[in-house]
Amino acid sequence: MLWNQLRSGSLFLLAVLAVSLVCTSGQAEEPELAPPVYEFKDRHDPNGIGKFYLGREIAHVMGHQGIGWLERNSREEEERLSVLVKLLGLKPGMVVADIGAGSGVIATLMAPKLKPDGEVLAVDIQQEMLDALAVKCKLMEIDNVVPVLGTTKSPRLEPGTVDLVIMVDVYHEFDFPYEMLREISNSLKVGGRVAFVEYRKEDPRVPIKEVHKMLQEQVKLEASQPGLNLEWVETKDELPRQHVVIFKRVAAGESNLDEK
Ligand SMILES: C[S@@+](CC[C@H](N)C(=O)[O-])C[C@H]1O[C@@H](n2cnc3c(N)ncnc32)[C@H](O)[C@@H]1O
Repeated sequence: MLWNQLRSGSLFLLAVLAVSLVCTSGQAEEPELAPPVYEFKDRHDPNGIGKFYLGREIAHVMGHQGIGWLERNSREEEERLSVLVKLLGLKPGMVVADIGAGSGVIATLMAPKLKPDGEVLAVDIQQEMLDALAVKCKLMEIDNVVPVLGTTKSPRLEPGTVDLVIMVDVYHEFDFPYEMLREISNSLKVGGRVAFVEYRKEDPRVPIKEVHKMLQEQVKLEASQPGLNLEWVETKDELPRQHVVIFKRVAAGESNLDEK
């Protein structure tokens, strides 16, 4: 009886209209995006990989052999990590993803501030880094840092679950920066934030190799690409060598930049 009505009458027309409306609204939220353009050059900085994104050369990934440098005693004086952690506005219960966590220097500073029910998802692509991080957490009796083995294109985090993503001296090493940022943005809750902590390329006195530094304007350019749904919020300049460039996740289609 119902089928007869569908075939012959207005109910059928309504069903077709509803289906086409659902399809159209789905397309509006996730527009087809052009793939990111990466350039390759033979002549390049020896500390870079010869692959360029939006005019910037991508740096070599720091190997796990560099753990001693990450853990150096002079780091607090040089980078004021304790000040950085205060700048982040951490609160109990938050889920924080530390992407490129390395041996866990930053993750272990943040984890106690998220107790009792918050945690740090410590992502890295090198298992050796995650092993060192696990040992460090055990020694420090920290039980709310979860190691996550990512890939060069994805941190492998659940969509819409993270309050804050932090990347300390990491983003400039991503082999696939656009793909990583898209996944990072998807992992954030709407209103969640992502903080890029990068050595200031604007300042020639910062004693770090050029491809391991970034201009604030370059960070903004790369994080504002269509489809990322990220909006710049503020840049904090309290640290001696790094700027902390912060963006927030907006709902799909809400970013002003996507309309350009
Ligand atoms: C210079 S270390 C910084 C470690 C840590 N953030 C710190 O400041 O102590 C950079 C880290 O980023 C990691 N890394 C590079 N590309 C990555 C990617 N696509 N996803 C996750 N981690 C990545 C490297 O394996 C390395 O451990």
